[in-house]
Amino acid sequence: MRSMSDDHTHVQEFFTARAAGWDRRFPDDGPVYAAAVAGLGLREGDRVLDAGCGTGRALPPLRAAVGPSGVVLGADLTPAMLREAARAGRDRDGALLLTDVAALPLRPSALDAVFAAGLIAHLPDPAGNLREIARVVRPGGVLALFHPVGRAALAARQGRTLTPDDLRAEPNLRALLSRSGWRMTSYVDEDTRFLALAVRAD
Ligand SMILES: C[S@@+](CC[C@H](N)C(=O)[O-])C[C@H]1O[C@@H](n2cnc3c(N)ncnc32)[C@H](O)[C@@H]1O
Repeated sequence: MRSMSDDHTHVQEFFTARAAGWDRRFPDDGPVYAAAVAGLGLREGDRVLDAGCGTGRALPPLRAAVGPSGVVLGADLTPAMLREAARAGRDRDGALLLTDVAALPLRPSALDAVFAAGLIAHLPDPAGNLREIARVVRPGGVLALFHPVGRAALAARQGRTLTPDDLRAEPNLRALLSRSGWRMTSYVDEDTRFLALAVRAD
């Protein structure tokens, strides 16, 4: 049986190998990230976390949305991804935290919103980890689960076939979110983006 630390080592090895070329692989994604961030409906002064921020591609639009009085955090498990984020100057838009989203160094209800791009498929315990993310978001706060490619296009790119038990299939994701402290409010899965929005339940 794989242990939690095996899972982390695997994630870290996978993304360490890809960190240096990450942004060059996806040079045109800026506008779709900005559009997804807009889905959070952030306001000036809000506190937001980019969970699994990687090289921090979402940090500039998140900062633009909350302004200088807001709080922007980027959390990731892979040091090499955070180094690339800092190299790209994205630590000017948000504070970078080397941490597992399974145990966030934040107080309950500390945040208004969480953005998570390309994260959920890598979590060893999606329900437990989404519950931990819910812990640090105030009731009524928002979660965006995003991917710049839809499920079918991503599966094709990875040489996989989509099956009904896919974690991000609408009924599965709705049920997963609801048992993790969230209520799914919208779901879009098209070739050019996947975006599920949820509100933190009371
Ligand atoms: C597909 S990448 C996406 C990076 C970035 N969000 C983006 O859209 O470019 C997934 C990221 O999630 C991070 N990650 C995976 N599991 C994590 C965990 N349990 N806690 C924190 N970060 C994690 C990986 O290190 C990696 O940087």
